[in-house]
Amino acid sequence: VNMNMNIAIDGPAGAGKSTVAKLVADRLSYVYIDTGAMYRALTYMALQNEVSVDDGEALKKLLSDLKIELVNKNGKQLIYVNEKDVSEEIRHSEVTNKVSYVAKHSDIRKEMVYKQQQLASGGGTVMDGRDIGTAVLPDAELKLFLNASVDERARRRHEEMISKGFDSNIDVLKEEIRKRDQMDSEREVAPLKKADDAIEIDSTSMSINEVVVLILSFVEERKGMMK
Ligand code: CDP
Ligand code: CDP
Repeated sequence: VNMNMNIAIDGPAGAGKSTVAKLVADRLSYVYIDTGAMYRALTYMALQNEVSVDDGEALKKLLSDLKIELVNKNGKQLIYVNEKDVSEEIRHSEVTNKVSYVAKHSDIRKEMVYKQQQLASGGGTVMDGRDIGTAVLPDAELKLFLNASVDERARRRHEEMISKGFDSNIDVLKEEIRKRDQMDSEREVAPLKKADDAIEIDSTSMSINEVVVLILSFVEERKGMMK
């Protein structure tokens, strides 16, 4: 029996997906795949090249010229575009506030989903995003929908910004998160939505470790069922 499952983690911004996904992947010696970073990388390149985030055709052309790679180095996940490390740049607020416009285009999503499916084809991945359980890996052995209240998610992001030495206003952050969630949930193609067979976890009052332990218990349960 092949025990290397794919684990899909979806949910809104700041719910803790990437933090938790990384830790779960480490514990299982699986590969973590940050699909949001791929949409961010394209958005960053669009801003750099003055390509409008509303121009689906131009974005598609741009994407076809890019080699986007996720690389694991010293326990960190880095993202390279055409051999250049853009891991820092893709987290800037200009990118964050534009990425949902880029992610609306169906041609772009088709291309990204294809790449993501290739990355997961051998199993043994923890992939996080918005449409992993619904569109990218509908057959994932374990699907989770990680949520938390918008106040708590804004608070987490705020703390993260402050700890990295950036300026941050929690009310502005909350508004940005709300707007992005709305765009991601209301878009026509593969909107943010809990898959019918996903387990929902409300992490509003849970620590990172509590969420990780809970997910690992679901993994064990699934492995038991697969034996
Ligand atoms: O980490 P954070 O929650 O801020 O966002 P992210 O996971 O880096 O994703 C950034 C944006 O990319 C999301 O707001 C979505 O618009 C888009 N995205 C998507 O459409 N589908 C995915 N599978 C992952 C991200
Ligand atoms: O990937 P996503 O946007 O869902 O969230 P994240 O970037 O992984 O996490 C946002 C912040 O919340 C990070 O600074 C975490 O340390 C913190 N946090 C968490 O992820 N989970 C908790 N249960 C509590 C805090």
